[in-house]
Amino acid sequence: MNNREQKGKFITLEGMDGAGKSTHIPLIIELLESRGVEVVSTREPGGTVLGEKLRALLLHESMHAETETLLMFAARREHIANVIEPSLARGAYVLSDRFTDATYAYQCGAKGVLPSKIKQLETWVQDDLRPDATLLFDVPVEISIQRLRSAREPDKFERENAQFFEKLRQAYLKRAAENSHIFHIIDANQSIDKVEVLVKNIMATI
Ligand code: TMP
Repeated sequence: MNNREQKGKFITLEGMDGAGKSTHIPLIIELLESRGVEVVSTREPGGTVLGEKLRALLLHESMHAETETLLMFAARREHIANVIEPSLARGAYVLSDRFTDATYAYQCGAKGVLPSKIKQLETWVQDDLRPDATLLFDVPVEISIQRLRSAREPDKFERENAQFFEKLRQAYLKRAAENSHIFHIIDANQSIDKVEVLVKNIMATI
C-alpha cells in the first residue's frame, strides 16, 4: 500500500510479447470480482482517450528510444490522473496490462535508455505510486517468437529480433529479483490450464 490516498489495490501484468498474459485477464477479473470488489481493467500504453492515441504512435511509428520513453510516461501521467488514482481512491482494484516495469524492460533493458533517466521520470510522474503486486509471465524467447509468428499482424515491438527479446527477458527477470516483494514470476511455458492454476494460487495471496 502506498502513502497516498489509496483504498484499493494496484495489480500489474508484465511479460514479453507472446508470453500470454492477456489470455488470463478475464480469469483475474473474475477472481477479484468474486471478492465483491470493483475491478478496473486497463492497459498501457493506453487506458485513456489520449493514451490510446499515443499508443497508436508508439506501436507503429519508429522513433528515438528516449522519445519513446517520454511518450510512454506522457501516456502514463494521463492514465494515473484520470484512471488509476481515482479508482484506487474509491477502493477499486486496478488491473493494468503493463506499467512502468515494461519501460524498464523495453526502453532500458532492450533499447539502452539509462535507468537513471527512467527513474527520474518514474519519480516525477508517479510520485510514490507503485504496483502492490506484479504478475510476470515468463517464457523462453523461442516460445515467445513462435507464438508471435502465429498471431495477428505484428506491431513494431513484436517484429524485433531474438537478441532484443533475450535482453527483454533478462531485464524483466532482473526487475523481478530486485523487487521480489512485489513480483510473482509465472512459468508461462505450459498449457493454459496449468498457467491458470498458477494464476489462481498467486491471486489467492494478493
Ligand atoms: P501489449 O502488446 O502488451 O499491449 O503492449 C504494447 C507494446 O508496448 C508491447 O510490445 C510493449 C510495449 N511497451 C513498451 O515498450 N514500454 C512500456 O512502457 C509499455 C507500457 C509498453
